[in-house]
Parts: sequence; C-alpha cells; structure tokens
Amino acid sequence: MDRDIIIRGLNIVLDRYRVLEDVSIDIRGNELTVILGPNGAGKTTLIKAILGLVKPSSGSIKVFGYDPFKEGEKIRKLIGYLPQLEKYSYEIAIPSIEVVLMGLMASRRFPRIPSKDDVRKALECLGRAGVRDIAYKPFNELSGGQRQRVLLARALVKEPRYIILDEPFTGVDVRGQREIIECLIDLKDDIGILMILHDIAPIAEHIDNLILLNRRVIAWGPPIEVLTPENLKRAYGTEIPIIIQENICYPLLGDRHA
Ligand SMILES: Nc1ncnc2c1ncn2[C@@H]1O[C@H](COP(=O)(O)OP(=O)(O)O)[C@@H](O)[C@H]1O
Ligand SMILES: [Mg+2]
Repeated sequence: MDRDIIIRGLNIVLDRYRVLEDVSIDIRGNELTVILGPNGAGKTTLIKAILGLVKPSSGSIKVFGYDPFKEGEKIRKLIGYLPQLEKYSYEIAIPSIEVVLMGLMASRRFPRIPSKDDVRKALECLGRAGVRDIAYKPFNELSGGQRQRVLLARALVKEPRYIILDEPFTGVDVRGQREIIECLIDLKDDIGILMILHDIAPIAEHIDNLILLNRRVIAWGPPIEVLTPENLKRAYGTEIPIIIQENICYPLLGDRHA
C-alpha cells in the first residue's frame, strides 16, 4: 500500500488570513520527517490538513492515496497523532493505562468496555514506549517526558502505519527527550514518523527529510542541504548561528524562536 504523503500547491486561508501558501512537498512513509519553523509558521495547520481536520482552500493533498478532507476517517485510522500539549490539559487523575485505552475506545460503539485483549495491547504499547512500569500511576502525577510517552503509547495502540507528533518535547527535560527519541528510533523501521519541532538539536542526526516552513516552504530535503544560513534567515527573519559537527547541522534556535 501507498505510504506516502503528497502535497501540491496547497493554500489554506483561515479567517481571511493566509496561513499556508503554495505548499508542495513529498513525505515518504519510510522516513523520519521533521517540520521546522517559527511560531505561527503554519506547522500545526499543515498536519491538521494532512489529517483532514482543516479544509484546504486550494491545491491537493494525498495521504496514502486518500483525500484527507473526503476520506479523513480512513486516514485517521492509519495515523497515530500526538497533538501539541496544552499547558493545563490532561490534568486528569486516571491511570495511564486508561489514557492508552482511550486510543482504542474512541472509535468503538457504546458501551466502551475494554476487553482483556485490549488491556494486553495497551500494556504492550506502554512497554514499547518504555513506560510499562507506570501503567497504573495517575496520569497527572507523571513528568512531562512520561506523559508524552504514555500519549505515544495511546497513538500506537491503534496499530498505525504512521505517527505524527506535534512538538513532543514541550515540557520534557533532556533525559526525557532522549527516552522519547530512543522509542522513536525503535519504531522507525515499521512506522513512518512526522514530527513538528521548534528545535531539531535533540534528534538532528536521525532526520531523513526536513521541511523548513514559514507559511511557505523555504526548503525541503536532507537537513544538511536545507539548513543553510540563507534558508534559516528566510525562515526566521534573522541570522541563526549554525554549528556543524560530523556533517550534522545544528542551528542554534534556542527558545527565543519558539
Ligand atoms: N482557526 C484559525 N483561524 C484563524 N487563524 C488561525 C486559525 N488557526 C491558526 N491560525 C493562525 O495561523 C497561523 C499558523 O498557526 P499554526 O498552524 O498553529 O502555527 P504553528 O503550529 O507553526 O505555530 C497563526 O498565525 C495562527 O494564529
Ligand atoms: Mg503549532
């Protein structure tokens, strides 16, 4: 089956504001792709369009051969999605495993009672995300990194062929970031990964395909080709220092541009 995402001439206008302009990119299903760009660049809007949650004003999107706006339900079954974490959301005192099971129950009819098999699957996915040991700990008592990994398990429980993560490192310390990255590297051979980031440093060496976005696609392709001083300046409107180490490019974005 087709595992690619193909976008051509995509324009999105919301409330008369042109959020995305003439976006044309290919995202291949067997690669780790990152969308990088400043706040307000349209990154979240782009993935919502891929998921069929926002309507294109013009242009075309094909996700695994489907049209997201007409066949969004099919696409959302195949894609696990970790939305951008809102600061005060998820303050819920329910066990982590219940959060994971929500990923299965959402598409079920009432009564939504998990079977033994569902519970086994949820525990297995918590294991794949490296957080099997906190299955019965209340979600609101977890660290940022643990929360993101429980949410990753929730995305995996649907057995997706693709996962999309919107700024998964927000509120996660360096060690937590490494743990999330290790899980993703293990998944990468079986599942396509698309991540939105405002700083690529934690995962720079693993990125296959980088999309530099600021309303328009500034550049896309292998990171070392995309991350030139000129492209970064066009994306951020200011000079961004770059460190290159062992042929891997690290733009020093810090939090200023988040
Ligand atoms: N529903 C909406 N109506 C109007 N403007 C919107 C809507 N959603 C997003 N925007 C605007 O579109 C721009 C891009 O938003 P977003 O995709 O969230 O950017 P990013 O994820 O890169 O920070 C922002 O300026 C935002 O205010
Ligand atoms: Mg966003």
